[in-house]
Amino acid sequence: MQKIAVLTSGGDAPGMNAAIRAVVRTAGFHQLGVLGVMRGFHGLIHNEFIELNPRSVADIIHRGGTILKSARSVEFPTPEGQASAIRNLREAGVEGLIIIGGDGSFRGGMRLQAAGINVIGIPATIDNDIPCTDYSIGFDTTVNTVVEAINKIRDTATSHERIYVVEVMGRHSGYIALYAGLAGGAETVLIPEVEADLDDVCQRIVAGYKLGKAHSIVVVAEGVGGNFKTGRSLDESSAFRIGNYVKAKTGFETRVTVLGHIQRGGNPTAQDRIVASRMGARAVEMLREGQGGYMVGVVHTAIRATPLEEAFRQEKTMDLEFYRLAHILASQ
Ligand code: F6P
Repeated sequence: MQKIAVLTSGGDAPGMNAAIRAVVRTAGFHQLGVLGVMRGFHGLIHNEFIELNPRSVADIIHRGGTILKSARSVEFPTPEGQASAIRNLREAGVEGLIIIGGDGSFRGGMRLQAAGINVIGIPATIDNDIPCTDYSIGFDTTVNTVVEAINKIRDTATSHERIYVVEVMGRHSGYIALYAGLAGGAETVLIPEVEADLDDVCQRIVAGYKLGKAHSIVVVAEGVGGNFKTGRSLDESSAFRIGNYVKAKTGFETRVTVLGHIQRGGNPTAQDRIVASRMGARAVEMLREGQGGYMVGVVHTAIRATPLEEAFRQEKTMDLEFYRLAHILASQ
């Protein structure tokens, strides 16, 4: 094997750069050439390849985002798009491709694998919703960003004795809300995986007030929507709807904060850099061993590879003990 390529795809995640660095430097260690593909699958189709060497990845381990840029390609799912991507990879002499991204990106990777190009996926999404790995790159940084925001909101919530509803990212997944809610001491965590009753939420807030709590923080994942027992359809941000409901029902002064895309940026934590470095290095080793069609992951602190097909057959299961614990600890 002489040459491999690496791309980042889907929503960016802090630590993607650390993974790119690990890929390029592990490849350099083995005297393998590396091409960087700009803008994910879009760049594959449009031949946007750049040469990467160990110096091109200097000073990026601490930077959020991705030096290779990221995009969601509408062309790649088409037969023409895929044919163009495969042709470009072959003409560039690429023998293996590393895809740093989420499950949508890996599905694209499986098409290339089927066409005979060895593909290894590295899970990177702040949502942490990829099965067969305990962690995805970016999740730890995002949880820390959200906890920092909750700490700040707690200061003003205490001063003004208010209810705060804090909306965090997670279109289909409650991992960010659950981990940040537990670490931030939120009174209530609302996630798409668990059906919630807004009247219970209100009762909990009132019970906390009677216990002498000066404020209450409700962390809600953006994916929470149609799973409330209120019979209403979702026509506005979950957080605002919840905030209005809580205010009307309890009479407490309520504020809503939507954290938005600040959750996707920032310097990656040490954990994200370490996980990214280990995954990036393993992905290169696997390509050198002639393996393809796998996703690397972290399972109980060990780096494990799972066939992409198997990963897609599984649903990521959330440990609801975390959910129970967050509410027990905040209810007293
Ligand atoms: O990166 C994952 C994620 O942050 C989701 O939680 C969110 O719904 C989505 O990406 C938003 O991404 P964008 O605004 O880039 O489409």
